[in-house]
Amino acid sequence: MIYKFIKILIPVSIKKYIKSSIKQLKNISHEDYMKYTDSYYSKFIETDSLNYEILVNGIYKIKNIPGIVCEIGTRRGGSAKWIIDSLVENKDLDRTFITIDPYGNIEYNHGDGDIGTNKTIVDYTNKMRNETIPYLYIYALNKLKNFIFFNLEDSEFFERYKNGIPIYSEGGKNLVNQYSFVFFDGPHDYESIYKEVEFFNSRTHKGSVYIFDDVANYNHRLLENELLFKNNWKLYESSQRKISYVKIN
Ligand SMILES: C[S@@+](CC[C@H](N)C(=O)[O-])C[C@H]1O[C@@H](n2cnc3c(N)ncnc32)[C@H](O)[C@@H]1O
Repeated sequence: MIYKFIKILIPVSIKKYIKSSIKQLKNISHEDYMKYTDSYYSKFIETDSLNYEILVNGIYKIKNIPGIVCEIGTRRGGSAKWIIDSLVENKDLDRTFITIDPYGNIEYNHGDGDIGTNKTIVDYTNKMRNETIPYLYIYALNKLKNFIFFNLEDSEFFERYKNGIPIYSEGGKNLVNQYSFVFFDGPHDYESIYKEVEFFNSRTHKGSVYIFDDVANYNHRLLENELLFKNNWKLYESSQRKISYVKIN
């Protein structure tokens, strides 16, 4: 009752002023939004391997080499963040960067150190996806021209995008089927990686870079002999976990 009475006594102009001030307080600036997003999501972003310097050097190597930058196996976005930061550091921002990961807690193939399989359920869940991908979008799109996450297995991606990825811009639609960089960090069994390399071999060109992770989990030497050296890939850098190659022709 008293509240209603006081409300009547307040002039309309003051009421309007209070209303607009409250509205103003509810709007947050872009800078504040980025600060909150970063502090909420960055605790989830991490890597799970070693030798990320090989990834960084691979990104530095592709400056002026046209084509999509592709990562197979995103997990918590740690390696994707390394890739984005390296592109920024190298002033190579006019890029389409894609990451491919099915999540969904499906069986994961770790490889068995030779040709074969070792499938288990890890924890690559849709919850992990939801804690990772929104941040990667915000992080990447604030820095690069184009970032796209494909919530697909490698094989599903290959089937759907064998003719290229449609990239849209003011200039219209451009079907891009050329890759400058591929980071192989999804399934780690020989058969899957063989199929992945086969797909990208015909879609890469002179100067393109391949990076392989967890090379001790499968027979990487055989892959080198069967699919890399015969197709003009030359060893670029080697470390305990990661190996990189550059296409020389
Ligand atoms: C080793 S983790 C990737 C780690 C990440 N690249 C990093 O360094 O921080 C492997 C990822 O591959 C994904 N994965 C599993 N099967 C896949 C498939 N068939 N195609 C693409 N990605 C797959 C998993 O969901 C998981 O997120």
